[in-house]
Amino acid sequence: MIDAYFNEILKDINATIANYIKGNVKELYEASYYLFQAGGKRLRPLMLVASSDLVGGERIRAILAGSAVEVLHTFTLIHDDIMDQDTLRRGMPTVHVKYGVPMAILAGDLLHAKAFQILNDALSGMESNLITKAFRIFTDAILVISEGQALDMQFEDRKSISEGEYLDMINRKTAKLFSASTALGALIGKASDDVVKKLEDFGLLLGISFQIVDDILGLTANEEELGKPLYSDIREGKKTILVIKALEMANEEEKRIILQNLGNRNASKEELKQTADIIKKYSLNYAYELADNYYKQALDKLDSIEWKNELAGKALKYIAEFTVKRRK
Ligand code: IPE
Ligand code: IPE
Ligand code: MG
Ligand code: MG
Repeated sequence: MIDAYFNEILKDINATIANYIKGNVKELYEASYYLFQAGGKRLRPLMLVASSDLVGGERIRAILAGSAVEVLHTFTLIHDDIMDQDTLRRGMPTVHVKYGVPMAILAGDLLHAKAFQILNDALSGMESNLITKAFRIFTDAILVISEGQALDMQFEDRKSISEGEYLDMINRKTAKLFSASTALGALIGKASDDVVKKLEDFGLLLGISFQIVDDILGLTANEEELGKPLYSDIREGKKTILVIKALEMANEEEKRIILQNLGNRNASKEELKQTADIIKKYSLNYAYELADNYYKQALDKLDSIEWKNELAGKALKYIAEFTVKRRK
């Protein structure tokens, strides 16, 4: 039943996106639409629509707002892959590899604007106070993601990052868009301020868990299944929770190997793997427990809300569980 629930939403989200991302400057629109065709889990729109359903919102508006969020997410992925110098996304060459960096920057810009256009249509005719709140959530999310992405890059050049700094950074670069999605769903569904806040918190807590697991998968997944390059976090010198923990726990020789390869763009695949193996030994259990802790806090939030739609509540629980158990 949950499968049918998700499939119906996905069909509408994908059709909406296809409808909006088209125009007559062929290569620009091709580059902009490319990643939607490549795949992707559509987690944020699913969470937005389920949040709206949970509080009894109008489906058509939620589908549009969910599409806006997915389009925004895709813009961040295109620019993220330029920043992280990654060559694989959703199992395909990244946009800048396929179309060149200038066109990828433009595709991101286009999707950024498209996201606002779609959100505007989602809110059309609603009460002005609600429209203002929705645009504030959306713009805040973009500002905060930029801050998070800047911190993520700045941390590459710093030797020591605390767990608190890491959590703050992933809150901004990733969890914020999850919380914006669930909050927008609730808001569009005309939930009370209290329920909007609870669903926002649910999204934020789950988003933190999601990024911790993303960092784990970057060292443990099957590259083909993941659709993204393994070990690129090590090559780029990312201060993930795994790296932070391993640098705290490893012996001197192991620490030397980690520091030698962390942020070394010339490191071979073997060196990266050796480094990953050391990092994992000291950090995998810790990172999974941390992710699990945020997942459980997220579930508590969800359980504190009155569900107007049982299936939507179950769908959100399913997504939450998927977040910690997933392999891609
Ligand atoms: C990737 O997000 C970016 C992160 C925040 C880690 P997803 O894992 O949701 O990417 P897609 O949309 O499914 O490709
Ligand atoms: C995730 O960035 C956050 C955004 C894309 C805004 P990452 O760099 O950690 O995610 P992946 O692993 O490339 O998807
Ligand atoms: Mg990246
Ligand atoms: Mg990144």
